[in-house]
Amino acid sequence: MSTRNGVWQALDERLKLSDFTYPVPRHANTVAYSLGGISLIGFIVLIVSGILLAQYYDPVPQLANDSVRAITQGVHFARILRGIHYWAAQVVMLTVLLHMFRSFITGSFKKPREANWIIGVGLLAVTVGLFFTGTVLKWDQEGFEALEHNIAIGHLLGGLGHWFTPAFTEHVPLLVRLYIAHINILPGILLLLLAGHFWLIKKHGISARPGQPVGEMLPFTAHLKHLGKYALVFVGIVLILAVLRPPAVGPAPVEGIEVTKPPWPFLSLFAVENWIGISGLFWASAVLFILLLLVPFVDRSPHAVWRRRPVFIALGVLLLVVLAGLGLLAWLTPGAVHVGG
Ligand code: HEM
Repeated sequence: MSTRNGVWQALDERLKLSDFTYPVPRHANTVAYSLGGISLIGFIVLIVSGILLAQYYDPVPQLANDSVRAITQGVHFARILRGIHYWAAQVVMLTVLLHMFRSFITGSFKKPREANWIIGVGLLAVTVGLFFTGTVLKWDQEGFEALEHNIAIGHLLGGLGHWFTPAFTEHVPLLVRLYIAHINILPGILLLLLAGHFWLIKKHGISARPGQPVGEMLPFTAHLKHLGKYALVFVGIVLILAVLRPPAVGPAPVEGIEVTKPPWPFLSLFAVENWIGISGLFWASAVLFILLLLVPFVDRSPHAVWRRRPVFIALGVLLLVVLAGLGLLAWLTPGAVHVGG
C-alpha cells in the first residue's frame, strides 16, 4: 500500500471521510445548480475577512467613521480586506437572489422540498439584514441615514420595534447593538438556517432538471472539487475588484438632513418609500416576503417545467420586472426626504 493510501485509510477510519462520496447528479456542477454553493463560498470569504476587519474597526459612534477612514487610508492590508469584504457582500447578495430565482424557475421548491424554500426565505431575510447592518457600520452619511430608517421603522412598529430604537437601552449606543447583530446575532441565525438547509438537501437530494430524468451520478467529493474551481473564480473576481475599485467612505454624518440613496438591493423599496413614505418601505418589504413564503403553497401542481406553470412563471417574472423598474426609477430620480429634514 502506498503512503498516500495508508494516510487516507488511517484518516478515513477515524473521520469517516468516505461518507462524503455519496452520489449527486452531474448537473449539480452547472453554474445554475451551483449558485447556492457559490453563495456558501461567499459567506466563508465574508466570515474570514469580517473577523480580520473587526481587528481594525471601532463601533463607538464618535470613532466609527474615523476607524473606517484609517482602514481605507492607512494599513494597506486592511484596505484590501475591506475591499474583499465589500465586494464579496455585493456578489453574495446577487448569487443568493439568482439561486432563489433558479429554484423558482426550475420548480425545485415543489414537493418534497417546500420546507427548504421556506428556510431559504429566512436565509434571504438574514442576508438582507447583514447587508443592511453592514451599510450602517461605516457611519458616513449613507450609513447614518440607513440607521435613521431603522429607527423610524422601529417607531412605526411601536412596542415590537423597541429594540430597533436608541431608547431600548441608555448604556449601549444603537450603532454598537447593530454591530453586534452584524457580527454575532445574524451570522448565528445564518449558520442555524444553513444547517437546516443542507440537512434537507442531503435528505432529498438535488432536484432533477425539469422534465428530465436525474441522469448520470458523481460522488459528492467530485462536486466539492468542482465547487473549488468556482471558489477560485469567486476569490479572483473579488480580489481584482477590491484592488481596482476599493469601496469609498464619506465624511462623518450630519444629523437632520437626508441626501443619500440606499445601496442597490434596497433601491426598489426606496422608490415605494418616495411615494408613500416610511410606512410604504415597511409594508412593501412585508408584502414581498409574504409573497415569497406563499410560493410553495400556491404553485402546488407536480409540474416543474415552466411551460406547464405559465401563470406562476408570468407572475414571478412580472414581480421581477416591477422591482427592477422601481429600482431603475429610484436610481434615476432624486430621492424625497422621508425621515430627516
Ligand atoms: C443565503 C444563502 C443560501 C445558501 C448558502 C444556499 C445554499 C444552497 C445549496 C448549496 C443548495 C444545493 C443546490 C444549489 O446550489 O443550487 C441549495 C438548494 C436549495 N435552496 Fe438554497 N441557499 C441559500 C438561500 C436560498 C434561498 C434564498 C432560497 C429560496 C427562497 C433557497 C431555496 C433552495 C431550494 C428550494 C433548494 C433545493 C434546490 C434543488 O433541489 O434543486 N435557498 N441551497
